[in-house]
Amino acid sequence: MSALFEPFKLKGASLRNRIAVPPMCQYMAVDGMPNDWHHAHYAQIARGGAGLVIVEATAVSPEGRITPGCTGIWNDGQAKAFAPTVAAIKAAGAVPGIQIAHAGRKASANRPWEGDDHIAEGDAGGWQTIAPSPIEFGAHLPKVPRAMTLDDIARVREDFVAAAKRALDAGFEWLELHFAHGYLGQSFFSEHSNQRNDAYGGSLENRSRFLLETLAAVRKVWPEHLPLTARFGVIEYDGRDEQTLAESIELAKGFKREGLDMLSVSVGFSTPAARVPWAPAFLAPIAQKVRRAAGLPVSSAWGIGVPELAERCVASEQLDLVMVGRAHLANPHWPYFAAQELKVERAAWTLPAPYAHWLERYKVS
Ligand SMILES: Cc1cc2nc3c(=O)[nH]c(=O)nc-3n(C[C@H](O)[C@H](O)[C@H](O)COP(=O)(O)O)c2cc1C
Repeated sequence: MSALFEPFKLKGASLRNRIAVPPMCQYMAVDGMPNDWHHAHYAQIARGGAGLVIVEATAVSPEGRITPGCTGIWNDGQAKAFAPTVAAIKAAGAVPGIQIAHAGRKASANRPWEGDDHIAEGDAGGWQTIAPSPIEFGAHLPKVPRAMTLDDIARVREDFVAAAKRALDAGFEWLELHFAHGYLGQSFFSEHSNQRNDAYGGSLENRSRFLLETLAAVRKVWPEHLPLTARFGVIEYDGRDEQTLAESIELAKGFKREGLDMLSVSVGFSTPAARVPWAPAFLAPIAQKVRRAAGLPVSSAWGIGVPELAERCVASEQLDLVMVGRAHLANPHWPYFAAQELKVERAAWTLPAPYAHWLERYKVS
């Protein structure tokens, strides 16, 4: 028996296995509109057999995009354009999810293959970034953001709410709030980026406020029977890890109180001074710690795209779901080959007949 190919149920969402495709920006949108590229990409990856496919970080407002190529869901046209892609993911047997996001001080950047740095000051393609405090990330992202007013904070919270409603209209059945990776949510939590001295900065309670209020507001409009999750960086690798992890666990407990269904455990990426100890599945034991301490189901990514490793992460109860990102870009049929490698006689997911007829009869190598 394979733990990785055990079905998984979270609220009304039934996943055919424990494999999820994490959000991965494609940087191919224009004015936030998803297009044929997104459709082809997500339909193909869903057909590969994962239980859950989470569409890339999709901005809740124009200034919340990381790059000019990021998808958005701040208007009804964008939501409508997502609908056929959602239908294609479902037709392929996967649960369709989306990550809604605001990039904060890391917004207004060039696409990774165009430099990954901030769009130069004065370039018409760039825009004013906003964040808790006027502190730049540094390194390749030197733009100093404008400090958000209380009105800005309320407006962005409502942007998340409106985005959640549109995601529902588009047919998504799993919603992830992007509170990780140094973007807006994470930057409220981290003292690297939040030096406010009002109700949104200072104490742990205050630094958690934007995230918890946004979650609570979204929970009110996102149906109770559908999973609401968040991605959050629980650790920075900046030399203060014990304290950050302890604070993150408190936040995770708060998330649970506000109705979060699952936490996607990641890295904070709040400072260029971080020294991340990259290694296969290095985050899985940390995710398990959070899982146990907060009593929340967890998923995680980063270097788990080797079938035996993915299997072990689930079997040892480190992770409830395994996020397999880049390995899916290399091989959209990763779950099928993982099933073969793990000698899963008949994977818990069922191949559609036009493929099953050939692939189950003749071994593909
Ligand atoms: C091209 C690319 C785009 C990404 N975009 C996002 C994103 O939109 N949101 C997010 O939370 N993480 C994003 N990530 C991080 C991935 O979700 C994942 O955590 C990372 O690729 C590590 O998993 P892996 O080792 O299986 O690839 C991105 C990663 C890649 C490679």
